[in-house]
Amino acid sequence: MVMSGHEPESLRRLRMANLAGLTGRVLEVGAGTGTNFAHYPAGVSEVVALEPEVRLAEVARRAAAAAPVPVTVSTATIEEFGADESFDAVVCSLVLCSVDDPDAVVQQLYSMLKPGGQLRYLEHVAGVGARATLQKAADATVWPRLLGNCHTHRNTEASIAAAGFSVAGSRREQTLPAWLPLPVSEFAIGRAVRP
Ligand SMILES: C[S@@+](CC[C@H](N)C(=O)[O-])C[C@H]1O[C@@H](n2cnc3c(N)ncnc32)[C@H](O)[C@@H]1O
Repeated sequence: MVMSGHEPESLRRLRMANLAGLTGRVLEVGAGTGTNFAHYPAGVSEVVALEPEVRLAEVARRAAAAAPVPVTVSTATIEEFGADESFDAVVCSLVLCSVDDPDAVVQQLYSMLKPGGQLRYLEHVAGVGARATLQKAADATVWPRLLGNCHTHRNTEASIAAAGFSVAGSRREQTLPAWLPLPVSEFAIGRAVRP
């Protein structure tokens, strides 16, 4: 799980790219310690951030107080939060690997966006070849139990497309050398629009 301020510069840049150009009312799912908050652009009028782990939510509230835009932190899970079609954007970073039912959550996020609203995601996703083998082994053994239910071999972008989103931009990025045998060194970053 990657949640500290001591992150590689490459991941910090991906966080900034994931938030670039956002405007209006934003929902951030699973904010952790609030590492994204410092990077929200000035066009964002409000961030509603969900973080169910109480200790992490406390740290996130401190990050919210220092953020450049207004951020409120709730300890609701996304499943508890409900749906009201009032957000201009939803931000997910390193969280769709951890929810119990990613298909249901992505459908819920779709329903919470205004038409034309965007889902911005930065996620661990299923790789291919040797990485896929490693990811499946990690997911079947200790990785989810040690790392907050993180599943490294998820077809998150298939869930996003199946929910009805139109994917406007998506790419894969390595934050560590590709040869390093880690199941989470590759990220998918993308923008998906509710038509
Ligand atoms: C790996 S951390 C990522 C934190 C942060 N988004 C980041 O980019 O550093 C995943 C976070 O998602 C939260 N989470 C897990 N399941 C959730 C759910 N159903 N609803 C909301 N948050 C959830 C966890 O408590 C955890 O803080």
